[in-house]
Amino acid sequence: MRLTDCHNFHDFRTLARRRLPGPIFDYIDGAADDEVTYRRNTASFERCDLVPNVLRGVDEVDLSVTVMGQKLGLPVYCSPTALQRLFHHDGERAVAAAAAKFGTMFGVSSLGTASIEDVRRAYSTPQVFQFYFHKDRGLNRAMMQRAKDAGVDVMMLTVDSITGGNRERDLRTGFSIPFRLTLGGMLQFALKPRWALNYLMHERFALPQLQQHVDFGGSALSIGRYFTEMLDASMTWDDVAQMVREWNGPFCLKGVMSVDDAKRAVGIGCTGLVLSNHGGRQLDGSRAAFDQLAEVVDAVGDRIDVMMDGGVQRGTHVLKALSLGAKAVGVGRYYLFPLAAAGRAGVERALELMRLELVRDLRLMGCRSTAELSRANLRFR
Ligand SMILES: Cc1cc2nc3c(=O)[nH]c(=O)nc-3n(C[C@H](O)[C@H](O)[C@H](O)COP(=O)(O)O)c2cc1C
Repeated sequence: MRLTDCHNFHDFRTLARRRLPGPIFDYIDGAADDEVTYRRNTASFERCDLVPNVLRGVDEVDLSVTVMGQKLGLPVYCSPTALQRLFHHDGERAVAAAAAKFGTMFGVSSLGTASIEDVRRAYSTPQVFQFYFHKDRGLNRAMMQRAKDAGVDVMMLTVDSITGGNRERDLRTGFSIPFRLTLGGMLQFALKPRWALNYLMHERFALPQLQQHVDFGGSALSIGRYFTEMLDASMTWDDVAQMVREWNGPFCLKGVMSVDDAKRAVGIGCTGLVLSNHGGRQLDGSRAAFDQLAEVVDAVGDRIDVMMDGGVQRGTHVLKALSLGAKAVGVGRYYLFPLAAAGRAGVERALELMRLELVRDLRLMGCRSTAELSRANLRFR
């Protein structure tokens, strides 16, 4: 199977599975507990039908949107994700390059493996820095200052990970940083020598946003332990309000779900919020963002830019979310599997397929731009 054989999310996932050692594939593909929310994220789009209009003169189609003051060439952005150089040696750089090609936004995680400065210097497309609020307030202040100095466009604070989700696939394989694999996990790596060779021949693995502040001390840190031991579970709205003031620019909360919280986000001056359950990786049984979208848009959509992520695999999923009132839609695994499958070329192909789907589907919907979508084109089963 080659990149040109990949025509959709599932093809990229299959190719990624062939290329990655099992524990790394499972880290991307897995979710919390019984993975119910993970499955529901995509399933929730299937409860909703599109009702097209016809004969509307759709020869020209405009996919651009403006969100949090950023003009994007696509209504889809690459949501921040951790550890990308484990998936492909070009990691965040490949994702940033592909996002820049399509004029869309991408995020670098606090757990990113390329520095926010490096990608900022290389690409001018809107860049998000995804922030985790650590117990060490000095670390929080330093990270924020660093993002400011680097010229990051949007600060995105993730608020659904105050403690680690229970990712049982990772427990089984022993996935952690640095690797402390179980015997079964080690065997999985032995089966993928090409990945291992690539990993060893390229720049050494690092977490540049954290390394000055965190002493991994040679001991393995699972992602669950990082959340639980290093992040500040005592964080409150007052802490975030202070961050918003200090940042003094576009500020977005990622992982809000309730109308109450959305109103609070407006109250403290946030510019955007992302309805998200972290791709089903945190609270299993939590609601799909798409199911929660209309309620939140109705409550605050005129005062803050509402976005969503989770389970998006198709252009039609994006159109449904935009019809309900989302300003843009984030994707995670949709670009991570292509990254693992083929680096920058993989992510570019995935975004190009998404662009083509969006153009085709908008035309079939009888719309010349995303702004022409509305709830009138939706029916729920
Ligand atoms: C492998 C992986 C790593 C992730 N790392 C982060 C992270 O560091 N910070 C964060 O806010 N969200 C992280 N997320 C969540 C994504 O930003 C996004 O919310 C989620 O992937 C959307 O669901 P989807 O994968 O179904 O598109 C991660 C998701 C995955 C799959």
